[in-house]
Amino acid sequence: MSKTRALFDKSNSFGWLSIGLHWFATLAIILLWFIGQSIASQSIELIDTRRSLHVTLGLIAWLPLVARIAWRFKSGHPRVNGQTQLTHRLAKAAHYAMLLVLIIMLISGPLMAWAMPDRGSLSEFAFTFHSNAAKALAVLVVLHILAALKHLMFHEDETVARIFVPRIENAQDED
Ligand code: HEM
Ligand code: HEM
Repeated sequence: MSKTRALFDKSNSFGWLSIGLHWFATLAIILLWFIGQSIASQSIELIDTRRSLHVTLGLIAWLPLVARIAWRFKSGHPRVNGQTQLTHRLAKAAHYAMLLVLIIMLISGPLMAWAMPDRGSLSEFAFTFHSNAAKALAVLVVLHILAALKHLMFHEDETVARIFVPRIENAQDED
């Protein structure tokens, strides 16, 4: 009987696709966040270069990030073994909140880049959304990391392990 680790999610574990998308998105978001945050403090000669770097990386990451969001909505949330219904719902709500804020960033960013040359009210409107969403996302991600640390330190469950490797299954048990 061969042992495999699944590509897709199961009822109580993430597959490689979800895991890959989670860590790709984490890297992209952290990079974009710090580069974005550094734009305004650049000298006048460097500000355009720094903004272009942010916009270029943002556009490269755009499609995988959208795919990541769509995949989570389609694939749902596997349960953690032994988790109560209430905790499962809370975890789901926190994850969806992050993804919704991410959607706002992915719409307002390109909108701002497109409207910027006019410096009109559309570009200001998009900036307000992008800037506040960036702050909200930072707060949510910090809470998310603290929640992961709490699981690591105080709960003997697989919440953290399962976002690194899928659960091993017997190949013939697969459906
Ligand atoms: C998850 C994705 C993203 C994150 C976390 C992010 C983060 C940020 C942050 C923190 C700022 C600075 C806001 C401020 O000064 O208050 C910023 C500014 C900006 N972002 Fe993003 N961003 C993302 C995606 C994008 C995308 C996809 C685009 C466009 C293709 C984009 C275009 C811009 C532009 C044009 C600015 C304004 C630069 C300026 O101050 O002149 N962003 N972003
Ligand atoms: C170092 C940073 C991060 C750590 C340590 C971390 C940790 C985790 C852990 C342990 C889980 C699994 C929860 C479970 O088993 O149910 C998870 C899932 C999740 N995380 Fe993170 N995370 C990080 C960054 C992020 C970022 C930046 C986002 C922003 C979108 C994010 C969004 C999610 C979402 C939506 C899920 C649900 C599964 C999925 O869709 O991938 N995480 N994270």
